[in-house]
Amino acid sequence: MKSASISVRNLTTASYVAILCHLLPAYRVIRKSSRVKSASISVRNLTTSPVRKIVIAGNWKMFKTQAETQDFLRGFLPHLDNTPEEREILLCPPFTDLSILSQSLHGSRVQLGAQNVHWEDSGAYTGEIAAPMLTEIGVRYVIVGHSERRQYFGETDETVNLRLKAAQKHGLTPVLCVGETKQQRDLGQTESLITTQLENGLVNVDQDNLVIAYEPIWAIGTGDTCEATEANRVIRLIRSQLKNPNVPIQYGGSVKPNNIDEIMAQPEIDGVLVGGASLEPESFARIVNYQ
Ligand code: PGA
Repeated sequence: MKSASISVRNLTTASYVAILCHLLPAYRVIRKSSRVKSASISVRNLTTSPVRKIVIAGNWKMFKTQAETQDFLRGFLPHLDNTPEEREILLCPPFTDLSILSQSLHGSRVQLGAQNVHWEDSGAYTGEIAAPMLTEIGVRYVIVGHSERRQYFGETDETVNLRLKAAQKHGLTPVLCVGETKQQRDLGQTESLITTQLENGLVNVDQDNLVIAYEPIWAIGTGDTCEATEANRVIRLIRSQLKNPNVPIQYGGSVKPNNIDEIMAQPEIDGVLVGGASLEPESFARIVNYQ
């Protein structure tokens, strides 16, 4: 008896598209319960990059000595045994911890990120760090344009843009932070501010090697989380302004073990950038292992 199965080799382009369209409703259902986030639905996306990466990052800011870093790892790594493979886990410690983490994380699934990078490869820039210094020790990601850099250290959309391009030139994946202050939100300027940050920040930036973090400044370190549905709305707006809709977009600002499940249940949110709650092994482990 002849098999009814169709040989993929014999498919014409038209029948391939027809099959994809046929599968679309089932794909939508699977998407809702899936652990990975699908890109906005279109046959084009299905045939190119059907999923967006999930990136869970800990931003340690100016916390942890090397000894404290080793303590953290002892408590944290055992919690990753059952963490779904497709979740990218990232630690962004102070520069002095990068080297020791690079050694300790060798062979583990945790990736290393820095908190800043200069746009020159070397030079007389006291207090800065260059991309080749980061890549040499195994750093893969770098946070760029965090609101604390913008607020306290004079970072502008223009310097953010320079740093993004330098990171990419050296194969680092930048995590671009955008977000509004409380005052800007109250004045109804959230959308226009974010649009400006994206327009200026992303000039000549490769959107195939990029993560964006939406971090409303009023929610950072305050315990005042942005409603998950509101974060989802702003992130949808950000995505609508990108050339590549598959760029992973994180939420950041008072992410905690008790709100992570609701945040990650939002369809547009592809991960989180976590400050305070990434400093304790159990709390960051609960975030990484969200339900
Ligand atoms: P928070 O910080 O989680 O402590 O609010 C987030 C961030 O600044 O990235």
